Amino acid sequence: MRRGTVLDLCYLVAAITFIIALMGLSSPRHARRGNLVAVGGMTLAIGATFAQPHLQHLGWMIGAMVLGAAVAVPTSRFVKMTAIPQLVAIFNGVGGGAAALVSVTEYLALTSMTRAPCPFQIVCPPVGGVKTVAVYKILEVVLGVIIGTVSFSGSAIAFAKLQELMTGRPVTYPAQQVLNAILGVGIVVVAILLLSTGSLVWLWILLGLALVLGVAFVLPIGGADVPVLISLLNSFTGIAVAASGFTIGSNLLIVAGTLVGASGILLTRMMSAAMGRSLPNILFSAFGSVVTASGSTESADGRSVRSGTAEDIGVLLAYSRKVVIIPGYGLAVAQAQHVVRELADTLKARGVEVFFAIHPVAGRMPGHMNVLLAEANVPYDELKEMDEANPELTTADVALVVGANDTVNPAARSSPGSPIYGMPIINADEAANVVFLKRSMRPGFAGIDNDLLYNDKTVLLFGDAKDTLTALVAAVKAA
Ligand code: TAP
Repeated sequence: MRRGTVLDLCYLVAAITFIIALMGLSSPRHARRGNLVAVGGMTLAIGATFAQPHLQHLGWMIGAMVLGAAVAVPTSRFVKMTAIPQLVAIFNGVGGGAAALVSVTEYLALTSMTRAPCPFQIVCPPVGGVKTVAVYKILEVVLGVIIGTVSFSGSAIAFAKLQELMTGRPVTYPAQQVLNAILGVGIVVVAILLLSTGSLVWLWILLGLALVLGVAFVLPIGGADVPVLISLLNSFTGIAVAASGFTIGSNLLIVAGTLVGASGILLTRMMSAAMGRSLPNILFSAFGSVVTASGSTESADGRSVRSGTAEDIGVLLAYSRKVVIIPGYGLAVAQAQHVVRELADTLKARGVEVFFAIHPVAGRMPGHMNVLLAEANVPYDELKEMDEANPELTTADVALVVGANDTVNPAARSSPGSPIYGMPIINADEAANVVFLKRSMRPGFAGIDNDLLYNDKTVLLFGDAKDTLTALVAAVKAA
């Protein structure tokens, strides 16, 4: 078999492993295996690339890989669980930027091949005897530049928001969407000018406009919606990579880029649905510009919150039949996944039925709670998705809400004026007793009050979740 055929087969196998890996990632049960399959496929693809004949710039390639690994490996190992969204944002931005750079380089290579006054076919007729470049090739390059650059600068702003290098609240100014629309139209006009003249000047202008559009697009999106945006930008990066694949004739890049593009869009849709909001609403409504929560221990209609002691709540838990633990972002902040598992085990040892109810957007990224609890080896059959968990809450003695807020806020069901109205929630309020573990009366990500905190059957245990859970374990053992 020819060497080229063998290498193409390697790329085909690698592309298939990426699809198998995605299937594995669809469930926490197979996610680890899925990741390993993807690593295997990627190693094969890199190996096949290095086995290509007439490879140039080998030193640069190896240097770039060593540099990338030197930055990425320690970053991924030591980054805190709560900082994963910004890590994904920055990695995604780098991917988009790389795809744009590939397209720019390819544009320079393509245009240097021709000296025709108007270099591209179709837009202007081929000049007799002078080599021209097919316009579709340049179109791929132009798309790669635009999408990759928007993804790069947009991800950089998303990173800055999540890392609190700038405000996480939406940044708005008059006629914002009109200015963004003008930018978008400007990009289309410059792209047409670039296609019809082939002048390098238009390429640099296009690059500049796309950079500005990425920033302008992300500024009005509030911190609470940034994870959805990152998923969308991730999809953009996939599309830019697929465009680069067409440009340089790499089937593997086309397949891998398309998979990322499609899965990013699907994930974006699923996240929007789980928040009960449309994608345009997430992108253009500047959700979260106003914090309406009072942060008070008294509700607007004069009801006070009831706080309890670890000892009392320990007794309540120990003598329950069924306890549903509802984890949220605070569990990740407190890094309390191991102690929450210890509490669940202690209760189970006493014969209490315990499971975790997982809201699809609990935390700050898809699957956040699943990953966190898997880290503490919580068995998968103790994790129930929202739809499976909700019917069980009516028969639960205690809903133990650990660092969650918006995802159990009944306003999503009952207050049409609320910003989270329509978001499906975990019906913690249907349990006989509700226990909240949180540090203060500060609201959740949506910045709104939660009426459940003032409910007669609710008791609050204030403090960092790791400390309060540790105290609860001791109290349950002592009960
Ligand atoms: P949130 O509503 O954000 O509430 C988190 C709660 O944790 C707060 O009440 C906070 O109160 C408490 N907390 C923080 N640190 C704590 C600690 N160390 N110990 C104990 N408690 C702590 O969380 P949620 O219920 O998980 O909801 C997620 C929110 O993010 C939703 O609004 C959702 O729409 C949004 N969102 C999620 C995603 C994904 S994909 N997950 C994507 C976009 C948006 P204190 O500060 O008083 O402790």
